[in-house]
Amino acid sequence: MIYLNGEFLPLAEAKVSVMDRGFLFGDGVYEVIPVYSRRPFRLAQHLRRLGNTLAGVRLPNPHSDAEWTDLIDRIIIQAESADQQVYLQVTRGVDSRRSHAFPRQVRPTVMIMSEPLAPPESAECEQGVAAVSAVDNRWLRCDLKVVSLLANCLLRQLAVDAGCVETLLLRDGFLSEGSASNIFLVKNGVLLAPQQNHLMLPGVTYDVVLELAAAHGLKYQVRDILEAEVRNADELWMTSSTREVLAIVALDGRPVGDGRPGPLYRSMFGWYQAFKREVMHGGRNT
Ligand code: PDD
Repeated sequence: MIYLNGEFLPLAEAKVSVMDRGFLFGDGVYEVIPVYSRRPFRLAQHLRRLGNTLAGVRLPNPHSDAEWTDLIDRIIIQAESADQQVYLQVTRGVDSRRSHAFPRQVRPTVMIMSEPLAPPESAECEQGVAAVSAVDNRWLRCDLKVVSLLANCLLRQLAVDAGCVETLLLRDGFLSEGSASNIFLVKNGVLLAPQQNHLMLPGVTYDVVLELAAAHGLKYQVRDILEAEVRNADELWMTSSTREVLAIVALDGRPVGDGRPGPLYRSMFGWYQAFKREVMHGGRNT
């Protein structure tokens, strides 16, 4: 069942007009919320990010946090799998004609659905993954989680075409993020994270990784990261709600460090798995 504009329907019956601005202009926003043992992880942070994105694209929030929580809970209860990724989307609604300017009076289209959440495969966790790099040619509001993801899709496809899993994005000589993940690096035993600004999405998993680093006494710095530092990193990691933390062991066909997941990655992977077990699954949902 999915939620669409006030109704719970089977997926095949949920239909949206071709005049929806999400369809015509990619004029909408979204969130992906991981759910463990039927408990949404950091729902408050996801709803805050949703609120910031809606404000950033001048769309009134159609629901209070309490209403969102109730709708999401109802989707989670009905889904088959206990571990899920809840996808929610709000578009600027259905207009009577195609016009770039906002329609005067339309109801936003609200959709919520759930898909099973599978952890990354153990081979990926143990052996790491390969990535390519590309110029970050997206717009200048990458802090907003908007559905107009064509640039991200084109960039991700570069990785797929090269048999890799992610594309690292470089803008004006600096690391921004991945096509659908945040990127960290390790140099001389120190974890480096790019500083959050309008050029990257403030990832919820990014926060978790920095909190785990702090909790376990791993030295870290949050600052701008040069392309040269990415190319000379001892370790590179990618993070997202669905991919957790993965080591990138090759970039543009060259090994990162010794070409295997590094020691700090192994520590972080262990801390993340313990956090998942005890906090995400365990109901201590902070
Ligand atoms: N994407 N940066 C980008 C561009 C992303 O698309 C994502 C996640 C992240 C990581 O954010 P978080 O840790 O909150 O998942 C960073 C989701 C999973 C998606 O679009 O499917």
